[in-house]
Amino acid sequence: MADHNSSTVLEIRNLTKRFGDMIAVDNVSFFLENGKLMTFVGPSGCGKTTLLRMISGLTEPTQGQIILAGEDITFLRANARDTAMVFQNYALFPHMTVSQNIGFGLQVRKKPKNEVKREVERLLELVQLQGLGNRKPQQLSGGQQQRVALARALSLNPKILLLDEPLSNLDANLRVMMREEIRKLQEHLHLSIIFVTHDQEEAMSISDILVVMNKGVVKQVGSPTEIYERPTDEFVANFVGHINFFDGTVVSLSGEKMIFRTEHGELTIKQPPLKVAPGDRLKAVVRPESIRIARPDHPADATNNIIEGRVVSNMYIGAITRYTITAGDQVIYVDEADPQYRGILQKGDNVRLVLKDAIHLLEA
Ligand SMILES: Nc1ncnc2c1ncn2[C@@H]1O[C@H](COP(=O)(O)OP(=O)(O)O)[C@@H](O)[C@H]1O
Ligand SMILES: [Mg+2]
Repeated sequence: MADHNSSTVLEIRNLTKRFGDMIAVDNVSFFLENGKLMTFVGPSGCGKTTLLRMISGLTEPTQGQIILAGEDITFLRANARDTAMVFQNYALFPHMTVSQNIGFGLQVRKKPKNEVKREVERLLELVQLQGLGNRKPQQLSGGQQQRVALARALSLNPKILLLDEPLSNLDANLRVMMREEIRKLQEHLHLSIIFVTHDQEEAMSISDILVVMNKGVVKQVGSPTEIYERPTDEFVANFVGHINFFDGTVVSLSGEKMIFRTEHGELTIKQPPLKVAPGDRLKAVVRPESIRIARPDHPADATNNIIEGRVVSNMYIGAITRYTITAGDQVIYVDEADPQYRGILQKGDNVRLVLKDAIHLLEA
């Protein structure tokens, strides 16, 4: 996590929200740096919206502090905060035109008419809705309505933009397009954004920093690669993608190598964490794409980190084939790239699996 410094736009200190006996957000702390896109990601009901609503001022915290650009705003009313929120259902004013929706906040702040007009034109262009200013929201597609909501949120030049599942009402292709657009806009305007989603792929692809949540608690804060490659616990490892766990015991450590005994034999692990000692029980964590399947024409050139298994099923997904393989009592998932070139193994085929070097360790 980043240290607190002058580029911090938002700091959350020990923030908690209880609804009766239920703790929706449990002692959450983090920093957000200026100009970064942070995503709250976690399963439905884990507290993402509640946390976002506390930052926007729509929900009052039970405990803790919210510091925006150096100012404690914990109990400041929502419309006095330098934040703007975009909701999942857009929450546009249906009786107003697109331009009136976008200019609403400026008008409330008593900006001169011609200034509002100019600003609305600029925002329409920014979100690529030129010429549609006179339409009503219901005359727009879902993606276009989303852009109006975004332009309206940007109109007041907020210190931070809060987006709660902004893409979840859009179909799959449009979701991907819109998330790329939001990211471009964010980088172009150097916006500070908190984005909320339950979709791990969306979270990974759009963010500088992920905040992975479960049951009101922050499980890990880090960049997409940190979260994917070095998850700090089983929940995070599982949440951000498919994963294999190998339980075992540290046999020995020498220099940069560790010998780790599992039910499938001994694994050699390069650059083990500093804290481990012989006898420690650990979990080796291996992503499906970090396992290679040796073939007769591509034999296992490796002499260690080999696991013998048998194919249970194959799932062809175009870019990869996802195999389910058994080895002893364990089910192992393996993703193999380039099925056209490699061909597809069938149920019952015996295979030799080679674990690549991307082996991460967790406490058991
Ligand atoms: N106004 C409320 N009153 C009571 N419980 C609430 C309220 N808002 C949210 N909750 C509960 O708090 C938990 C977190 O909800 P929420 O923040 O909406 O999760 P998420 O956005 O991650 O799906 C859920 O169990 C939800 O039922
Ligand atoms: Mg929510």
